[in-house]
Amino acid sequence: MGVVAKATMLLSSRGFFFAPSPLSLGLILPERNRMGEIRGLNWQGRSLLILDQTRLPLEEHYQECRVWPDVVEAIQGMRVRGAPAIGLAGAYAVALACLEYANLESVEFHSRLTVAAETIVAARPTAVNLAVTVQRVLEAARAASSVRESIESVIAEAQSIDSMDLEANYRIGAWGATLLPDDSTVLTHCNTGALATSGYGTALGIIRKLWTDERLRRVVATETRPLLQGSRITAWELSREGIPVTIVVDGAVGYLLQQGQVDAILVGADRIAANGDVANKIGTYSLAVLGRVHHVPFYVAAPSTTIDLNSPDGDTIPIEMRDGAEIASFNRTPTGSESVAVYNPSFDITPSTYVDAIITEVGIARHPYNASLREMVSSHD
Ligand code: MRU
Repeated sequence: MGVVAKATMLLSSRGFFFAPSPLSLGLILPERNRMGEIRGLNWQGRSLLILDQTRLPLEEHYQECRVWPDVVEAIQGMRVRGAPAIGLAGAYAVALACLEYANLESVEFHSRLTVAAETIVAARPTAVNLAVTVQRVLEAARAASSVRESIESVIAEAQSIDSMDLEANYRIGAWGATLLPDDSTVLTHCNTGALATSGYGTALGIIRKLWTDERLRRVVATETRPLLQGSRITAWELSREGIPVTIVVDGAVGYLLQQGQVDAILVGADRIAANGDVANKIGTYSLAVLGRVHHVPFYVAAPSTTIDLNSPDGDTIPIEMRDGAEIASFNRTPTGSESVAVYNPSFDITPSTYVDAIITEVGIARHPYNASLREMVSSHD
């Protein structure tokens, strides 16, 4: 694993100072998308450059993954996170495996690739995107007629996943914005932005679109315990573009909704079952129930590849359990007695009954989801 560059700008006790940029180290600078937002993943031709999301917002630190196990480790360590982004990282991890096995003869090449792909898919279990993208690049590898062609096809397929996800997000943004009133205050959870995707974002893409259209008053971002994706990443992404954002602790949402301070709740998804049940960051279910009690619409935004028709309902979606240490300490300082038990499910299931609409790049699905989601997926195939 090569640590290649520290932030272009670091926050120190003395204020801001400049450090070497990835460009000065001979790496391709992260591209900016239409809105100028940052990209978390950048394919370098023979390696993958990852913006380490665990260090945000204090440091923009890039890690260069040169071999596929580096990417698996980065996914498990949450340096890259968010369902579409880990899907894309997984596809590029297969590309790295291809490059590593380039000198093997065909049968051995494909057998080693299959083993690597299984390990990559197992890195995080809840987001279906990882399994979908890895399968896609594997199929591209198998359809090719030589090892050399397989390598080229896998890289091309990963790049196509990258650009298609970005395009899907622009469409999600346009569809989603039609559901919201002018001058909206929108509450969001976790991070669904440029860094969780190929760019622009899903729920955050809708927020970006509202902002561009001058229809957004303010974003309320939940802190999102225990890893603070809301306060560390969402608030950082939005504020660097001048989009007004207020951070609240996760437990403040009921109070805000009771006070009528929110027009809609907009979240992403890691997997959407055939019946519309939604797996997303822990705490999402509580938001949906509070939304229903206070008559605040609860919308889910995701690319159609997040819909998993093979999962009939939420009970069949695997929920990732993470290390209790994430809860038992804050910034490496223990927050309680070491002997106390900790339980750390990373995701929860929101039953479809609380979901007012599911927004994808294809359009807006509503109840009954069994029919509308099936139609959505088949119209896209
Ligand atoms: O554990 P994380 O940070 O990967 O969880 C991310 C989420 O739950 C997001 O809401 C989801 O992946 C959608 S990202 C567009």
